[in-house]
Amino acid sequence: MRTMNPPLLKLEDVGIHFGALKAVDGISLQVAAGERVAILGPNGAGKTTLFNAISGMPPPTCGAVLLDGKDITRLNPNGRAQRGIARTFQITNLFFGLSVEENLLLAARGLGRVKFSMWRSDSARGVEQQLVDSALAKCHLESKRHLLVKEISYGEQRQLELAMSLTSSPRLLLLDEPAAGLSPADRVVMAEVIRGLPATLSLILIEHDIDLALGLVDRVVCMHQGKVLVEGSPDEIRGNAQVQEIYLGRPRHA
Ligand SMILES: Nc1ncnc2c1ncn2[C@@H]1O[C@H](COP(=O)(O)OP(=O)(O)O)[C@@H](O)[C@H]1O
Ligand SMILES: [Mg+2]
Repeated sequence: MRTMNPPLLKLEDVGIHFGALKAVDGISLQVAAGERVAILGPNGAGKTTLFNAISGMPPPTCGAVLLDGKDITRLNPNGRAQRGIARTFQITNLFFGLSVEENLLLAARGLGRVKFSMWRSDSARGVEQQLVDSALAKCHLESKRHLLVKEISYGEQRQLELAMSLTSSPRLLLLDEPAAGLSPADRVVMAEVIRGLPATLSLILIEHDIDLALGLVDRVVCMHQGKVLVEGSPDEIRGNAQVQEIYLGRPRHA
């Protein structure tokens, strides 16, 4: 019998309450190393708030968050980032007057141990440059390296946000609607970028475009009013009439 490693991420009965509103209401979830999970659900279902519980901003009202079997429930976002959790936001967080590469260098320095030192060793700079080059390649931005952020397209700006989250060499990446607001052509590129991410990287993806999401993940969790409504493989979710009709707001035979 194979020895079972603890899952990379484990949520035990996690809740986030805002007064009387239970935005996340008792979610238990496991994500294995290298596993890709989509979280679907209507607006207000609690998806982004669940990401907050995982990234530590704010910590959950109740329940426990474990990484590699270790309790990180009370750890702040920075501590979680150092242990390998990264996220992108729905809101753009870029310096528009700096180049693509400069934005990535700043992101790469954000987590470095040499964060506040004025003098940077050649080796530290070499490591940063490798992180930046690797993130540029993974996000199909190598040819845009020297352009200012304001000169690249909106789709490329979203690819850059994803690239920035990769500079911390995460083990678990939380993607909150990475394709929101993108043109159909840009969605295709974003899907290719996500599909091409390293197989060892665990992903949790919040995405409104169900076809895009189901094509990218191993498992789907459907949330409704802070709870898990249905969980299954992409095929199971595609064939689930309740999900199709009530939950994704799409008629069954569309
Ligand atoms: N900081 C907050 N204070 C009060 N209510 C919040 C806060 N953040 C989210 N909510 C509420 O929690 C619910 C879930 O929100 P959210 O997690 O953003 O949903 P989703 O990402 O699934 O659209 C919503 O009803 C939202 O209004
Ligand atoms: Mg949201």
